[in-house]
Amino acid sequence: MSIMGTASYAGAQGLPEIVTAAVALADELGFASSCRLEQGRLLHALAAGATARIGETGTGCGVGLAWLVAGRRPGVRVVSVERDAQRAARVSELFADVPDVEILHGDWTRINDCDPFDLLVVDGGGNGKRGGAADPEQLLRAGGCLVIDDFTPMIEWPPVHSGRPDSARLSWLEHPALLAAEVRLAPDLSTIVATRRP
Ligand SMILES: C[S@@+](CC[C@H](N)C(=O)[O-])C[C@H]1O[C@@H](n2cnc3c(N)ncnc32)[C@H](O)[C@@H]1O
Repeated sequence: MSIMGTASYAGAQGLPEIVTAAVALADELGFASSCRLEQGRLLHALAAGATARIGETGTGCGVGLAWLVAGRRPGVRVVSVERDAQRAARVSELFADVPDVEILHGDWTRINDCDPFDLLVVDGGGNGKRGGAADPEQLLRAGGCLVIDDFTPMIEWPPVHSGRPDSARLSWLEHPALLAAEVRLAPDLSTIVATRRP
């Protein structure tokens, strides 16, 4: 979890308006765990490649969602799932006038009811770190992209977490349906980016 994610926006200039609004909501609700600025910029760039559908698990206060919306092409639909009722309601209000955006309240597994995505950001449930993992063969179209945020940069192989092989990270890096790479976004932050094999 990006413990200091919301704080990473302090003093940032030139942000898309909707990102600034989502950060303000996170500040208002005292929600510290928004995606970091570096991750947001990655989502912004990746969103531009989607042609039909983008998904996200773990909406938080909508900061990552705002980056996705700011980067997407017109008409691309974005769905995000959040289990916290207050956050889901407030983010729904924030995006109420933005077309083709839907916030689902509930467990991340609600994303399984959606059609396959061009881009899926797994950021709250479904990342395999604590519990179940999203199934890229079900949730991504062939050639679709999966993003799993918030890893400490890998410094050895196999990667280790709390003294043991990091099974969550390995499950993504070695997933048979994916071509995956760890991308270092900052000295203390990595993300896994993966493409579903055809
Ligand atoms: C790291 S924050 C998400 C940050 C957000 N994606 C952003 O970019 O700013 C994780 C969010 O996932 C939500 N969450 C955690 N487990 C979940 C689950 N099983 N289903 C749905 N949401 C979940 C939490 O309530 C929290 O709001």
